[in-house]
Amino acid sequence: MRLDKFLCDCGLGTRSQIKKDIKAGLVTVNGHMVKKPEQHVNEEVDRIEYRGQIYRHEKYVYYMLHKPAGVVSATQDRHERTVLNLLEDVGREGLFPVGRLDKDTEGLMLITDDGALAHELLSPAKHVEKEYECHLASPLTPTQQAQLEQGVDIGEKALTRPAAVQMLTGDKMTLTITEGKFHQVKRMLHAVGNEVVYLKRLRMGNLMLDPALAKGAYRKLTEEELNLVRATMRR
Ligand code: URA
Repeated sequence: MRLDKFLCDCGLGTRSQIKKDIKAGLVTVNGHMVKKPEQHVNEEVDRIEYRGQIYRHEKYVYYMLHKPAGVVSATQDRHERTVLNLLEDVGREGLFPVGRLDKDTEGLMLITDDGALAHELLSPAKHVEKEYECHLASPLTPTQQAQLEQGVDIGEKALTRPAAVQMLTGDKMTLTITEGKFHQVKRMLHAVGNEVVYLKRLRMGNLMLDPALAKGAYRKLTEEELNLVRATMRR
């Protein structure tokens, strides 16, 4: 592959930044400075150093993003800012968000270029848990809680699968669901006679949103987190 693509894939910057850095002599291949961005390298065997650090090529990359409200979960959009616009400094091509959150929903979003992993995580048959913090228009009543826990009619063929409710305060709770229907949490609360006024995803499967990650910030998953995601899919 081209040297500039290799370095972009490593998440070291946009293609144009990387090209400048290569021309400025910041990159060596097998110990020799290379100033041509288009030079081909063998990512399996060549020793590629950027600013004195060796980089290996990763087949796939995995980022955790703390999605803020106001951006859409798409790869591109003509009018709206997308979650991928927040990762603009990552030069890697082919990234996409795993699943969707509404424009006004915040929280955990996994961004990757690993289609097989995304497919598994989103597969309806896998029933991967999604945990949300919900703030409600009015305190949840015991009847509403029981309905959510049993399954509610949101206008689909079947009732929703039983959800787990954990009360935080009267009008704040966490709701864990194992499906991913369009606007599912909002529709479930509406169906029981309440409304969601704020929604944040805290967890997907075994992967928790890092509480230290500020809104709009992102970072690569650690090896441990990636193993947790893989363990989710093996269940
Ligand atoms: N359920 C919703 O209603 N909205 C989301 O963004 C996610 C789950």
